Amino acid sequence: MTDNIISIIIPTYNERDNILPLVERLSQTLSGRNYEILLVDDSSKDGTIDTAAALAEKYPVKVLVRSNERGLATAILHGLQYAKGDIIGVMDADLQHPPEINAALLKAIEDGADMAVASRYVKGGGCPNWGLIRRIISKGALSLAHVFLPISRKVKDPMSGFFMFKREKIIGVVFKPIGYKILLEMLVMGKFEKVVEVPFIFEDRSSGRSKMKARQQIEYLRHIFSLMRRKGELVRFCKFVGVGLSGVVVNEGILWLLTEFAGMQYYFSSIIAIEASIISNFVFNDRFTFSDRRAGKIGSFFKRLLKFNITCAAGAVIQYGILILLTEVAGLNYLLSNLIGILVAFVWNYVLSLIWTWK
Ligand code: GDD
Ligand code: MN
Repeated sequence: MTDNIISIIIPTYNERDNILPLVERLSQTLSGRNYEILLVDDSSKDGTIDTAAALAEKYPVKVLVRSNERGLATAILHGLQYAKGDIIGVMDADLQHPPEINAALLKAIEDGADMAVASRYVKGGGCPNWGLIRRIISKGALSLAHVFLPISRKVKDPMSGFFMFKREKIIGVVFKPIGYKILLEMLVMGKFEKVVEVPFIFEDRSSGRSKMKARQQIEYLRHIFSLMRRKGELVRFCKFVGVGLSGVVVNEGILWLLTEFAGMQYYFSSIIAIEASIISNFVFNDRFTFSDRRAGKIGSFFKRLLKFNITCAAGAVIQYGILILLTEVAGLNYLLSNLIGILVAFVWNYVLSLIWTWK
């Protein structure tokens, strides 16, 4: 399989001093292979384009310049239109992605992976020079993707911008990324089955400045939302809310009936009412909200029911704790505290349903 054409697509924006060492190291790594390097520049102002054009005389480098659009992820898609490769690589230009890692990515692909991701979060990888704040933001962003876009759990580092894949796995797929995270877009929308991770150390930027700003964080949230919409995860969330509302009716109805007409004490009938609503919520969620996730798992109905009961039990304790705390300590009206408790427990139940019960 060594006659594959390899296209490495690299977005650049004001990276003048990085691209010479980048292209040199990349050429060392891929020497003897049939490869091309596509630099996709969004009209840099620092002379990147001239430097790149000069490199094209000596190396298999192509320079694509966009003048009416900006953005990392769409720059990659632009490069893809001009790439000849059967195998496509994507990486940053600023040497934070060590070019030598491409050898391991390529080997993984040629050993049968559909996609190979250079990962900071597998053994041997990392970003040792990051401060605490950046780490927390990064992990928070990662958890959002893992929770709300279940397919992204295929890899530990879906936020990496350094990866390689077989082009045939994206034929016919429509990509609509927003912002920086092209890998997340491809993982969620593409048709990759076997995805492997290769560790790498995220180096310090050797020259120039990062383009990552607050705006990218907002764009990231919009991107997650857009992917959820395209993958039906938003519809799922609405179904879960609908089922939850039906559960409130079941809970209140049974509580009322048993207390008023069967002569039970409310603190006893409420236990029955709660369990009844848990079971009815479970049945609706299993048939309706998560029907796609139980394919081939019908036999484990009772196991899921047990898991759902366990998550709801914890949710009930949370709800009860918030009720007491807000009423007794913060002095809120108990109905308001209870409502807040229900909301928090609801979010808790949803997240646990996604990552555990119907995982
Ligand atoms: N063409 C183009 N247009 N390129 C861009 C643009 C743009 O608008 N913005 C950034 N780039 C290029 C940069 O020149 C660099 O080669 C690469 O995209 C990454 O940009 P940085 O600004 O250095 O990003 P970063 O270091 O904060 O983020 C990187 O790390 C993330 C992991 O924390 C990126 O690689 C992300 O892809 C990665 O997920
Ligand atoms: Mn960078």
